[in-house]
Amino acid sequence: MSNVVVVGTQWGDEGKGKVIDLLTDRTDYVVRFQGGNNAGHTLVVNGEQTICHLVPSGILHKDKKNLIGNGVVVDPAVLLEEIDQLKKKGIAIGPENLSLSEKAHLIMPYHKAIDLAREKAKGKDKIGTTGRGIGPCYEDKAGRIGIRAIDLLDLDSLKEKIESNLREKNFYLTEFFKAAPMEPKAIFDEYKNMAGILQPYISNVSVEIDQAINSGKSILFEGAQGTHLDVDHGTYPFVTSSNPVSGSVCAGAGVGPDKLHHIVGVVKAYTTRVGSGPFPTELEDETGEYIQERGAEFGATTGRRRRCGWLDLVMIRDSVRLNGLNSLSITKLDVLSGLKKLKICVEYELEGKRIDATPAGLKRLAQCIPIYEELPGWDDDISSARRIDDLPTEARSYLTRIVDITGIPLSIIGVGSGREETVLLENPFQDA
Ligand code: IMP
Repeated sequence: MSNVVVVGTQWGDEGKGKVIDLLTDRTDYVVRFQGGNNAGHTLVVNGEQTICHLVPSGILHKDKKNLIGNGVVVDPAVLLEEIDQLKKKGIAIGPENLSLSEKAHLIMPYHKAIDLAREKAKGKDKIGTTGRGIGPCYEDKAGRIGIRAIDLLDLDSLKEKIESNLREKNFYLTEFFKAAPMEPKAIFDEYKNMAGILQPYISNVSVEIDQAINSGKSILFEGAQGTHLDVDHGTYPFVTSSNPVSGSVCAGAGVGPDKLHHIVGVVKAYTTRVGSGPFPTELEDETGEYIQERGAEFGATTGRRRRCGWLDLVMIRDSVRLNGLNSLSITKLDVLSGLKKLKICVEYELEGKRIDATPAGLKRLAQCIPIYEELPGWDDDISSARRIDDLPTEARSYLTRIVDITGIPLSIIGVGSGREETVLLENPFQDA
């Protein structure tokens, strides 16, 4: 048995869903450990697309157990809606293959109201959040006034907590944002109804993981967002409110670091970003548009157009260090087909000096000038490649430069959106 972590190395949307879906064949459990329904993991199986926001991506596979760890913030209405949608697609889903940690914090209607009101008030300086209440929910967790899944099992305490929180939140909403107040009874009634349905799913996920490991099962930890959206290590404040880095698995799923054997960093063959914030290799020209269109770069959660740019290996080197990556999975290589020349950013120039790590100050990051290496592109359709030798020489050179500069081997290369459109070089589960 071995346990593998899959994380994003850029600003999210690296195509982690497909990598996780592929690796799920080799695991028994799939576990989410941070983020919430700001994530949207797109899976394409037999040409049919499914987007999971909260339910771990292993749900499309029979006989796999899917766990939502304590580090995830859960909007129960979204979870129930997702369960319903999956059932409608004929996917078997119930407490036997899905558990929700009793310690996971719940997104409440006032979290969403505050998220939206704050973004509106910030105007052009907004973060560009997904508006799902993620930040305000994590704030309440850190502020020790959060409501957790376990509270759904004690309705008196749930009622008290909602009333007490709303005294503060309503003051903030009405006095500061001039927004409408919220009604505690309406929220309690809604959550009480959902509690009835969700109760059988609520469990001690840390214990479940421990028992699974002790009985020789393999676990896949499914990261959401990406390293440069990490609240500590990303382009703060244009980040999410959780830690998408691999170390966060331990706190967010309740598992010790000695249980993690292989960390896969997912790298899209170019860079994208949704929302605001600096983006040194952004392409605001027809090449950016070409990538955006060919890569169908629209947010899986909000439908927003993603900003596109060249691959930035300064960011990826940061991610190698921050996550302790053992291998890289390159996704969407096929999107680059048809470009005559490709560029890879290998360092930044800042105040006349070359630097190879992202500066913390946003003004400094905005001043960074990417230093590019130029490589020849390829015209061929590469979606039928299944072995590295099936790829054109230019595509192989592009991959070789990534390995040379990061010092990390490749495990999986995506050449199309389908599960089968993949070149598998190394099985991360065998590496342990
Ligand atoms: P929040 O997570 O909704 O608070 O949004 C904060 C920032 O993270 C915004 O720039 C979002 O666009 C970005 N973000 C959050 N989740 C994702 C994701 O899954 N993929 C890409 N960007 C995301």
